[in-house]
Amino acid sequence: MSKFKELVFSGVQPTGNLHLGNYLGALKRFVEMQATHPCIYCVVDLHAMTTGHDPATLKSATREVSAAFLACGIDPAKNIVFNQSRVPEHAELAWALDCVARMGWLNRMTQFKEKAGKDRENASVGLFNYPVLMAADILVYRATHVPVGDDQKQHLELARDVAQKFNNDFAESIAENGHGDAFFPLPEPLIQGPATRVMSLRDGTKKMSKSDPSEYSLIAIMDDADTVAQKIRKAKTDAAPLPSEIAGLSNRPEADNLVGIFAGLNDQTKDQVLAEQGGAQFSAFKSALTELIVAKLAPIRAEMIRLAKAPDHVDAVLAQGGERAREIAQPVWASVKDILGLVR
Ligand code: TRP
Repeated sequence: MSKFKELVFSGVQPTGNLHLGNYLGALKRFVEMQATHPCIYCVVDLHAMTTGHDPATLKSATREVSAAFLACGIDPAKNIVFNQSRVPEHAELAWALDCVARMGWLNRMTQFKEKAGKDRENASVGLFNYPVLMAADILVYRATHVPVGDDQKQHLELARDVAQKFNNDFAESIAENGHGDAFFPLPEPLIQGPATRVMSLRDGTKKMSKSDPSEYSLIAIMDDADTVAQKIRKAKTDAAPLPSEIAGLSNRPEADNLVGIFAGLNDQTKDQVLAEQGGAQFSAFKSALTELIVAKLAPIRAEMIRLAKAPDHVDAVLAQGGERAREIAQPVWASVKDILGLVR
């Protein structure tokens, strides 16, 4: 048994136009975690600055993602919802952890390589440092569990490495300051479910992404029923009917993706979906899928429209969440200062 109290933390970047991948991979699971754990959910506006940003867009996207948290069913009275920049301890701890993390570790981060592209010399230092700020997000609450998509696995490993090295490097001071043999927990990624990776509707080998040039590649949370129907109708499939078992989905990435979406939305496994719908033609399966997507998204969409007209309400939730987050983060950062010998 770990001495650390179980606490869930996760973050979502403030990008506009959230889609089914964000919903199934993150938001829906965040909502579910509330039943079993205290949770802290953060709109990571500081991370959104790493690739260059437009201030007005950042502001509206921060409110939009916050509204999506609430519209999906995260309860801000029970748990904590806030935007990262309200709690300065994230950035302060990130500096301390910068001095723990090694250049070699960050050099191996595949997301940095992808985002920096060919012109690495011209990437921002913030982009290189992104995983350390992410580690600080988690560790400043000494959170133990982190629901994320599988693309964030490497960043979670880095967070664990940073926590472990801090615990080792300062073991003596940690003990002297009354924290026993470890100050930070090693946070565990929670990556599970049939749809942790939702793929493009046009190409089952590519992730569903808001930067995809084809608007038919994704279902946005804000899409209305007609748009959903049209996009699902046009979604790429193959000619064979649905298989009755999961093995029949191998080498059929588009079919696999649609079944995964259905399973994720309907709280089933892919096996269960295929047991019920195996043998169906795609035309029939697509109608069922459209109905399911519309049924799940309609109430969320309606609430987001309502919240978009009430930015003061959303801001008030963030302000209150920020205060509650600080109440946890401040003493952790104060202890880190003591451990590191920073006079306060
Ligand atoms: N990097 C995460 C993503 O792109 C977002 C994020 C930032 C995050 N800080 C975090 C996720 C802390 C989990 C915990 O999805």
